[in-house]
Amino acid sequence: MDQTASSTASPDLPRGASPKLTRGAIEQIVASGKRLLVQGGMGIHASDGLSGKVAAARSVRFVGVGTVSAVVKTEAMLRREIRRAQADAQGGYVGVNLMAAINREDFALAARVCIEEGVSFIVQGAGISREIVRWCKEGGVPFAGIVSSGRLAAMYEKWGADFLVAEGADAGGHIGDIDHPLPSLVEEVRAHSKLPVVAAGGVTAGDVAGYLEQGAAGVQLATRFIACKDGDTHAGFKEMHLGKTAEDVAIITSCVKGMKARAVRNAFTDALAAGQHFPPRSKAWFFGKDGYFGRKKACVECLAAELCKCRASNFQESFCITDALLKAAILGDKENGLFYTGQSITRIPEKDVSELKTVQELVDELDAELAQAERAEAPRRAMQPALAAAALSPRRPGAGGAREPDR
Ligand SMILES: Cc1cc2nc3c(=O)[nH]c(=O)nc-3n(C[C@H](O)[C@H](O)[C@H](O)COP(=O)(O)O)c2cc1C
Repeated sequence: MDQTASSTASPDLPRGASPKLTRGAIEQIVASGKRLLVQGGMGIHASDGLSGKVAAARSVRFVGVGTVSAVVKTEAMLRREIRRAQADAQGGYVGVNLMAAINREDFALAARVCIEEGVSFIVQGAGISREIVRWCKEGGVPFAGIVSSGRLAAMYEKWGADFLVAEGADAGGHIGDIDHPLPSLVEEVRAHSKLPVVAAGGVTAGDVAGYLEQGAAGVQLATRFIACKDGDTHAGFKEMHLGKTAEDVAIITSCVKGMKARAVRNAFTDALAAGQHFPPRSKAWFFGKDGYFGRKKACVECLAAELCKCRASNFQESFCITDALLKAAILGDKENGLFYTGQSITRIPEKDVSELKTVQELVDELDAELAQAERAEAPRRAMQPALAAAALSPRRPGAGGAREPDR
């Protein structure tokens, strides 16, 4: 990525508008026999360049959906990334992931930008804000909630969400509930809500058919799209995702509310495990002379004050997450960067960056794998209309207990 350009340029593409991924639109897609293939938003800057490509991907069995990450983007960066994705998407679905844990003012501004730019949906993760649901309603933008419990799913449905992303224990980055495996979470969410559900967290090609049979309206993948030719991340970031085993995955305690998070194990995660802390350093190299929303100190106050353990401890504990994630995605610094990843990293087949595929090739692979699963399950395939109907109707309550909202 061109750091200078990304930090200072104003949006250079005209404002676009994406089709809206409403509950009705999803129900129509499912009724047509297709399912959603969503690329999960990845902050900071880890999913830049991917969203429009996933939205534009052609597939027999899937409708591609891209998600731009709004995390730690200035207004100009966010508008530019949305417009680039919309241009790449060729009329496909482009949504935006907004973390509710970020600074409240930045959160409100990002939401307004998304609504003005006519995105397909806003999806909220890492925290809960009810206001955003109202802003989306007023702005005519569908809203989706990321959930790690049936209770949260029911709450979002009551608030007026269009769809849900059920994110299980194997997901990348911050993990809502590290003890909740995805299959039982999908079951629980479907038991507590009638909304379309997208299954996320550790999903690889071989698992897709199973989640669709469970009644999911689609699947969301993020880690798989990191190991891809497309996308702006530094080659070192992509390399860190290749040839890894379970021993290469670390669970850290993030500065964001002390949540658990999954990352590639390296010198930085080992230092965190040993109790070292990493106060913020200047980010002028990335944001330029104007700073981040005019904030030029080492701490750019990206998170809500009470939710950042580093800031709340007067920088005596934890670490500056913006420094660590930028070092990984932008600089490819394999020792000092924080490389968020999902457990599915261990199932990425490519071993070298020269072998990486394009987004379209990855979608083709997923499509082919699903086709194979359908052939293997010929009697079930004959029941596709019934399965499609099942995806739109809730399971009977009772499977799994509701958990406390924890994001
Ligand atoms: C590098 C990385 C960064 C992520 N950043 C975010 C984020 O900013 N907000 C969010 O809601 N989810 C984030 N996620 C979670 C993904 O959007 C996705 O739901 C999850 O990782 C899916 O599991 P998978 O990676 O195994 O496919 C991130 C995941 C990764 C790997």
